[in-house]
This record gives sequence, C-alpha cells and structure tokens, in this order.
Amino acid sequence: MIRLQQVFKRYGRFEAVRGLDLHIRGGELFGLLGPNGAGKTTTLRMIAGILAPTAGTIEIAGIDVMRRPMLAKANLGFIPDRPFVYDKLTGAEFLRFTAALFGQDGAAVERRLDELLELFELTRWKHELTESYSHGMRQKLIIASALVHRPKVIVVDEPMIGLDPKSVRLLKQIFRSFVKRGGTVLMSTHTLEIVEELCDRVGIIRQGELAACGTIDDLRRGDDNRDAGLEELFLRLTGGHVQHDLDAVLG
Ligand SMILES: Nc1ncnc2c1ncn2[C@@H]1O[C@H](COP(=O)(O)OP(=O)(O)O)[C@@H](O)[C@H]1O
Ligand SMILES: [Mg+2]
Repeated sequence: MIRLQQVFKRYGRFEAVRGLDLHIRGGELFGLLGPNGAGKTTTLRMIAGILAPTAGTIEIAGIDVMRRPMLAKANLGFIPDRPFVYDKLTGAEFLRFTAALFGQDGAAVERRLDELLELFELTRWKHELTESYSHGMRQKLIIASALVHRPKVIVVDEPMIGLDPKSVRLLKQIFRSFVKRGGTVLMSTHTLEIVEELCDRVGIIRQGELAACGTIDDLRRGDDNRDAGLEELFLRLTGGHVQHDLDAVLG
C-alpha cells in the first residue's frame, strides 16, 4: 500500500533522509519510531506529497506520489503534527471544505460530516468557529477531515500529542478498526509504548536511515534485547544510549 524505494531528502547540504526502503502492506498498522530529528516528519511529508524527495520513488496504492499527485492523494488521509484549521470556519464548514477538495459535495457529504462529528464528540460545536475550539478539539477535527473521503491509507505524524486520555483511546480504536477493514496506517512516534500496544510492525529510523524493521518481538530478539525494558530497548535501538557523567555535572 505504501512503498518507498531509495528515498533521499536533502535540506541544503544536510541529508535528513538517507536511502529509505519501506514497504507497508494493506491491513497493517505500522509505526515509524525514532528520536527527535531522526527524519520522521520529513518522511511522512514526502509520502503525503507535501515535500518532494531529492531522490527515490514513493507509491501509495501503486500510484507514484510525484507523478500522479491528485490520484495518489485521493487514497490518502494525512494528519500533520501541527494541526492547522481555518479559524473563521465552523467545524462543519471545515469538513465540507475538505470534502470539496476531493470533489465531493451534497447530501452524502452532509451525512458523512454528521457521522464524523458524532464519532469525535464534536456535534455540539458543529456550528461554532474553530477559533473557539480547544487544541484537542481542533486535532480531532483534523483527524475527522482526514477520514472524510474514505481513504485507504492514513499517514499520521505523532498523533497522540495533546489529546486527552479518552481521545487517545478513541484514536487507537479508530486506527485498529481501520486496519481490520483492510486499510493501512503509518504513524510516527517517539514512544515505544504506543508502538508496542498498537502497531503490527515498527521501523526504527535513526539519522535518516532505517536501523531496524520488524515486529517488537523481532526487535527484542536481536542484540540480546530480550530482557531489556521498553525504555532501555528504545535507547539501544535508536542509538541514544549514552552514559552521562551526572556526578560531574550535578556535583
Ligand atoms: N525545512 C528544513 N530545513 C532544514 N533542515 C530541516 C528542515 N526540516 C527538518 N530539518 C532537519 O532534518 C532533520 C529531520 O527532521 P524531522 O524530519 O522533523 O525529524 P523528526 O520528525 O524525526 O523529529 C532534523 O535534523 C531537522 O533539523
Ligand atoms: Mg517530527
């Protein structure tokens, strides 16, 4: 469903993504895990067609994202890390606007919009301007807008940040149901707990390269990681395992 082949991204002289190969199947919830600055957002923005790769190819449902962007995007719901909504639109207007971008309007859209607002418990604020929404409500509206055109693939950047526990639970349920019905979810995160609880497979990205890929069990099996706690495992896999001389700094 999502296929990356030898994808590179350079910002000036800095290489943020270096030769990424990734194949994520239909029905799979895949976690891209890595520390800050590893290249997760860059990768997801390239998959969503917002950033052009310096080299390599990206396909969604067999469609080349750079060559046929409109067609590729019709299959995709992208949820960015910094949710942006138009302040002067109401929740309903924002969803209607998003549907229109995908060429959809009319009674079917109105039904879809009501169904999504209900799911995310935003019905009461349907006709309120989004400028009056809380951060979490805005984020839920963005997620709803990514689902409005019934995409086959959801790409989501650090989805759990800023959501209350109830919304986090809802989002997890949505992602699991989505893949159960044959959809594909690619999410980035820097927390291994989320990956362990939610994802079928995980790719560890480290300085723009895929350092490991597999199930959590696969990762535990490698490199004597069997007995490592989650935090320890994450640090080993992402190369953040540095011994600090705290006594010297704090003493
Ligand atoms: N627009 C940009 N210009 C220059 N460097 C960037 C830009 N965007 C990201 N970077 C750099 O690329 C690296 C990867 O960033 P990013 O993809 O945001 O990582 P992550 O999402 O894993 O934290 C970082 O070192 C970041 O500073
Ligand atoms: Mg990021």
